[in-house]
Amino acid sequence: MDGTSVGGKVLIFDTTLRDGEQTPGVSFTPEEKLRIARQLARLRVDVIEAGFPAASPGDLEAVRRIALEVEGPVICALARAVEADIRAAWEAIRYAERPRIHVFIATSDVHLRHKLKLSREEVLARAREMVAYARSLCPDVEFSPEDASRTDPAFLREVLEAAIDAGATTVNIPDTVGYAIPAEFGDLIRGIVEGVPNIDRAVISVHCHDDLGLAVANSLAAVAAGARQVECTVNGLGERAGNAALEEVVMALSVRRDLFGVELGVDTTQIAKTSRLVSSISGVAVPPNKAIVGANAFAHESGVHQDGVLKERTTYEIIDPRTVGITRSELVLGKLSGRHALRERLRALGYELSDEELERVFSRFKELADVKEVSEADLEAIVADELFRPPEIYRLEQVQAVCGDKGIPTATVALRAPDGRILVDSNHGTGPVDAVYRAINRIVGEEPRLIAFSIKAITGGLDAIGEVSITVESPDVKGENGKPRIFSGQGASTDIVVASAKAYMNALNKLLAAKEGK
Ligand code: KIV
Ligand code: ZN
Repeated sequence: MDGTSVGGKVLIFDTTLRDGEQTPGVSFTPEEKLRIARQLARLRVDVIEAGFPAASPGDLEAVRRIALEVEGPVICALARAVEADIRAAWEAIRYAERPRIHVFIATSDVHLRHKLKLSREEVLARAREMVAYARSLCPDVEFSPEDASRTDPAFLREVLEAAIDAGATTVNIPDTVGYAIPAEFGDLIRGIVEGVPNIDRAVISVHCHDDLGLAVANSLAAVAAGARQVECTVNGLGERAGNAALEEVVMALSVRRDLFGVELGVDTTQIAKTSRLVSSISGVAVPPNKAIVGANAFAHESGVHQDGVLKERTTYEIIDPRTVGITRSELVLGKLSGRHALRERLRALGYELSDEELERVFSRFKELADVKEVSEADLEAIVADELFRPPEIYRLEQVQAVCGDKGIPTATVALRAPDGRILVDSNHGTGPVDAVYRAINRIVGEEPRLIAFSIKAITGGLDAIGEVSITVESPDVKGENGKPRIFSGQGASTDIVVASAKAYMNALNKLLAAKEGK
């Protein structure tokens, strides 16, 4: 490899909660952001970009809670190069153990001319001034020249030098529209290493989008050329085609350590769990053939391959699945296991439960253990379903559906209303899930539009728990941008119609709370 620099540590900067939330159809509540941030801390990423506080009071609050409650990683907040944004970012992160403000302004001519309507001189001055302002508040400042890969390289170097001079401690090079090709992007980074006089005073970071499917390849080319921070998202979530996938960047750097020779702080055994959590909360399913975290990533189909792996795993496997937290013997508890064993197992998985919470999880566990052996993934699904429900305005008490190839799919639903009454109604639909949703709508008096619905089996086998993730929107509840707000919901059960009903109630309760201004 003709890398300019090898060795040292590559920092993993996770932006799932900021750029990841820009995925079409994805929206996180503050509680969901906090849950993901806690898991990112367990994954031991170096930096969590928790949000864009100036975007909305809700985002500011979510970032502040992460800053106050999540220990370990640097907590970063994004800001445009304007004072009000930088103040909001600082307000949100100032109590973090290690806060960082991330200031950005576009530098490509196309952005300057059509979006900012500023000259190069004006952008240069604004970058310098706003980085200095951020630095007057916070000792750790990252600067991003947006659309860097389409910026005149000489101007880019000039802006970077000014930003470092003004106090930037990290300079991030975004391939904002996923336009770069690996060799070219590596050259751009090398040009910065060699051509920015004060570059030794800052860490070079990269932030690549996947419009041409090259985000990870570009990030790796940048590391080979001297970048020492990579920005990425879990499962590759992000604006349009998404960002570089964290799991792919981390595993490429770790499997090919022979080539890159860099250290990472990430605990790779947390990767599978983090991917499951983000997929479930975001409602964005992981394709089976996705590298590292897809269901087929470690499946060997052909007889020749199976034979090879049985003789020697490394014949067809470059990663031991346990390295990313996939254990083949996943059985954890059976029906004779008691509360103590359950508490210990949950503790090992990172969940500290109160007695009352343990009781709820234990009763769900017992129901499941009566019919099947319970795996770690099952336990996590139960915990998520029982403990991470949004506050309930209406509570699902009962659901019953009749379906088949003849006859009309029909459902009856009972909900507990806020005043304690039990409300029952029925409806029919194109299938049992549609019938359940229509029955719920009749009771609640809402008709949200279903944007996405996905279902996945938590483990193999016909007795597996099914986990449903959905997103809905309603024209009556709009966000700051005037567009309908998106609400996601998850539900888990061995009965997929029940799981679908739970997921819908989850999303609907969030929507109702937003409508009531809660
Ligand atoms: O893609 C991009 O340019 C960004 C910046 C804000 C870093 O997300
Ligand atoms: Zn981005």
